[in-house]
Amino acid sequence: MKIIGIYSSANAKGNSATILREALIGAKLAKAEVDEIALSKSNIGFCKACMYCVRKGKCLQDDDFEDICKKILDADGIIFSSPTFSCAPNIVMKNFIERLKLFKYIASSTLGGKYIIGLSTAKSFGANKTAKYLASIGIGSIYIKSHITGTLGVLLRDGKTINDMPNYLKKARALGTKMVKDYNKKVLIH
Ligand SMILES: Cc1cc2nc3c(=O)[nH]c(=O)nc-3n(C[C@H](O)[C@H](O)[C@H](O)COP(=O)(O)O)c2cc1C
Repeated sequence: MKIIGIYSSANAKGNSATILREALIGAKLAKAEVDEIALSKSNIGFCKACMYCVRKGKCLQDDDFEDICKKILDADGIIFSSPTFSCAPNIVMKNFIERLKLFKYIASSTLGGKYIIGLSTAKSFGANKTAKYLASIGIGSIYIKSHITGTLGVLLRDGKTINDMPNYLKKARALGTKMVKDYNKKVLIH
């Protein structure tokens, strides 16, 4: 099983990147092949709503999107992790999702048949909502829906970082392992 972890924080050693890596460790321990993508280090333009992808099956913009898209298509599981900004994924992740949307609904089903996990961290509110949103972006396809392995939203209260919260690191790791189990058992969860 191939699993790609995608994070959108500018901080590669921050909270949302750290829980993502824990989930990837859990998946690796269950014998998955894992890789991570840092969206904030990628060059991804805004969707121009030109519909070129609907006609041609790929985006007109010459940026990093197509390469990332190929990696997604090649994977069996995707783990999205974003910090919660204004009760939602941050703009880097939201922009990426908007670029995926037309492919998802019309040109193809980019996330179809894949297992998905949504992860998020927030200072005091909104992390669960963001994690659930991230996990659900593949279930609206008119083609093949994705399967939600699980979600984890973490509140970093009282100035804590995720490294001060071993129980949540453990939960993230368990989710990564569960993704491999779901895939092996062909559990279908929409
Ligand atoms: C622009 C902005 C908006 C934010 N909005 C929220 C919010 O709605 N709720 C919340 O609890 N924390 C909010 N935060 C705090 C971040 O969620 C928190 O710093 C983040 O989870 C840290 O993740 P990282 O270390 O991976 O970057 C916000 C932070 C910024 C910079």
